[in-house]
Amino acid sequence: MTDDPMCMPKIALVTGANKGIGYEIAAQLAGLGMTVLLAARDPDRGMKAAETLRSTGCDAHPITLDVTLPATASAAATKIARQLGRLDVLINNAGISGSLSQQPPGTASLDTVRAVFDTNVFGVITVTNAMLPLLMRSPAPRIVNVSSSVGSLTAHSPSGPMAWLPGSAAYATSKTALNALTVQYAKELREAGVLVNAADPGGCDTDLTRPTGFPVHRTAAQGAAIAVRLATLGPDGPTGGFFNDDGPVPW
Ligand SMILES: NC(=O)c1ccc[n+]([C@@H]2O[C@H](COP(=O)([O-])OP(=O)(O)OC[C@H]3O[C@@H](n4cnc5c(N)ncnc54)[C@H](OP(=O)(O)O)[C@@H]3O)[C@@H](O)[C@H]2O)c1
Repeated sequence: MTDDPMCMPKIALVTGANKGIGYEIAAQLAGLGMTVLLAARDPDRGMKAAETLRSTGCDAHPITLDVTLPATASAAATKIARQLGRLDVLINNAGISGSLSQQPPGTASLDTVRAVFDTNVFGVITVTNAMLPLLMRSPAPRIVNVSSSVGSLTAHSPSGPMAWLPGSAAYATSKTALNALTVQYAKELREAGVLVNAADPGGCDTDLTRPTGFPVHRTAAQGAAIAVRLATLGPDGPTGGFFNDDGPVPW
């Protein structure tokens, strides 16, 4: 046996991993031999998802974490420190869209905007900061923020390719803010060797998109692939970028 973390299986935490893209990211990372912690706000849903993954031979474990409740993030970090001692990969995947009818900018409900930012932006800061001390114990830490093309200002400007989508003061702006956070974390953590990037999964068929009626053409597993790629970057990989399967996405 060796205690050299370079030689040990990597340990990954995925938030919102009980279903959808998060579950598929966890499955794909586990498929690469990582120990995967499936973070879920509902303990039963997390346990069921981890059991499903374990039944396929993966090293998968549930952990309770509601990204809007800082106490659950620090409790999760304490548990990981005690049981595993470090974290190599953090995937900030948990996200909500909020009611689409309550976010056209001119009539937006501030409660909806706040709730979406609470999960998609403030939740990422909460979880990242709780996990940073554990990531700093990794020889090659990676953070991936699951963003969206709807966060691209270029795509959503009135002359951009996504101008046909209704305006959104909550979900779209939360993903733009998440992209900004990605850059700021990448800048702060560059010297420490932490690569921080944002992933755009593309439109995938999940519980988040189904009620919207917007056309989507990808499976959750296809959407997971870019986050997995960014989670497994080599030491010369990019940091502070925004990527989909085809390469960089315009900010
Ligand atoms: N689907 C797409 O086309 C698409 C495109 C671009 C980006 N994305 C992004 O991809 C990520 C995953 O979305 P998805 O499509 O897989 O949606 P999903 O199937 O609805 O899954 C969302 C996950 O986030 C969890 N979650 C929500 N609020 C949480 C909280 N406060 N604490 C912890 N977990 C929480 C959910 O848990 P519960 O089961 O308990 O609700 C669920 O596990 C999101 O960040 C989304 O914005 C999705």
